[in-house]
Amino acid sequence: MTRRILVRGGTVVTAADSAPADVLVVGEQVSAIAAPGAHEWAVDADRVLDATDRYVLPGGVDIHTHMELPVSGTVSSDDFETGSRAALIGGTTTIVDYAGQERGGSLREGVRRWHKRAEGRTCTDYGFHIMVTDVHDGTLEEMAALVAEGISSFKLFTAYPDTNYCDDAQILRAMQRAAALDATIMMHAENGIAIDVLRDQAIARGETEPIHHLTSRPPSLEAEAVHRVVALAEVAGCSLVIVHISSADAAWAAAEGRVRGLPVFAETCPQYLVLGIEDVPDGFEAAKFVCSPPLRWRRDGHQEALWEGVASGRVDVVATDHCPFTWQQKEAGRGDFRRIPNGLGVIEHRLDLVHQGVVDGRFSASRWVEACCTRPAKLAGLYPRKGSLAPGGDADIVIYDPGAQRRLSAASHHMRVDYSVFEGLAVTGAVETVLLRGQVVVDNGEHVGSPGDGHYLPRGPNALVASGVAAKPALGPAT
Ligand code: URP
Ligand code: ZN
Ligand code: ZN
Repeated sequence: MTRRILVRGGTVVTAADSAPADVLVVGEQVSAIAAPGAHEWAVDADRVLDATDRYVLPGGVDIHTHMELPVSGTVSSDDFETGSRAALIGGTTTIVDYAGQERGGSLREGVRRWHKRAEGRTCTDYGFHIMVTDVHDGTLEEMAALVAEGISSFKLFTAYPDTNYCDDAQILRAMQRAAALDATIMMHAENGIAIDVLRDQAIARGETEPIHHLTSRPPSLEAEAVHRVVALAEVAGCSLVIVHISSADAAWAAAEGRVRGLPVFAETCPQYLVLGIEDVPDGFEAAKFVCSPPLRWRRDGHQEALWEGVASGRVDVVATDHCPFTWQQKEAGRGDFRRIPNGLGVIEHRLDLVHQGVVDGRFSASRWVEACCTRPAKLAGLYPRKGSLAPGGDADIVIYDPGAQRRLSAASHHMRVDYSVFEGLAVTGAVETVLLRGQVVVDNGEHVGSPGDGHYLPRGPNALVASGVAAKPALGPAT
């Protein structure tokens, strides 16, 4: 018989509002939501979960992760099993990971490799974007087939000239193709050509410590790249997401495109909200904090601007860019910061860290849910199946204690990385119970599911384009 679970006595928080309500789950889906106690559901429930004094929210959707990503001669330390387990414990039930194209290789081959890594091992539901590092006629041809298979977004880079960079001609052609296919371009926007000049000049001056990674990637070169790719997307007529925005300058550049009515969307990450260069330790230990774009000075107002962007909705979503490396892996860059693998371990803490915006009175619990669950699901073409709590949607549910007090630490986290960039940080709030398609997979903070519980999710077009942000017509024909 189909299993019935009643989540009783909590405050249901959705992107629209917060209200006391009970949730009935039948099988894999939410069946009904009703005023507390105004029904007889408890009588024939197989299990009743008490959510008194707790929030009940849709499972988190993290649309920017990198499991087992090859970087700088090594591979990010969380695989699909360990990384998605940590995600689940942190209240994220869906991830969208970036499959990678090898330069000279096909997109299809990259996607095939990622399916092989994820299938049967992933604890959350999952989908893929693909990182396009080589735009040529063959790549453009392949994009249509991938969109038809549910890979509806493509990441391009104006950074990393040696490995991932595309020039403006390649970017424009890929954007035109995306526009024709109703697909979305995800953009890593930093001016990598100029940054590499600054980086190599720093090394030539003997500035080889990790802190010089952070200071050789200035905010103005992030904002310049955002301006440029917004202009290219306007010409192509495609929807564009600026991923991992780290600075006030870049956030404003993206917002400017939006103010002009373009389908330009902004993503930031918890690390840019809560960490500043002020928090980075002296010496080589700073390697733990090396990522791109880098952390920014708090004294220059970047964190405030990003929190403000999340509160106002100008920053649409918070994803993690989860890409951890162990201390031993980071050691590869001792004596030359250019060799430090870029990336941080964050996936477990996204809901908690963004919840601090609610605790601090910056925005409502609804906006928290919108930024971490609903808008990411819409942007990734997974809504309303994911990112909402509504009858007919997947029963991905988080029971959250908004008053729990704790400190983040590598000693208690579940990510496969032997330090935490958030070590000792006090947070208010904790995930207690998580359901994935109606199955309890986290119980009292412990993972009780299995690797392979997660299903692959084919994705549709970016639903935020249709839901209010006007797309301007393309200025030129798509090829
Ligand atoms: O430093 C970072 N962000 N590493 C992950 C790869 C990327 O650019 O998103
Ligand atoms: Zn990136
Ligand atoms: Zn990334």
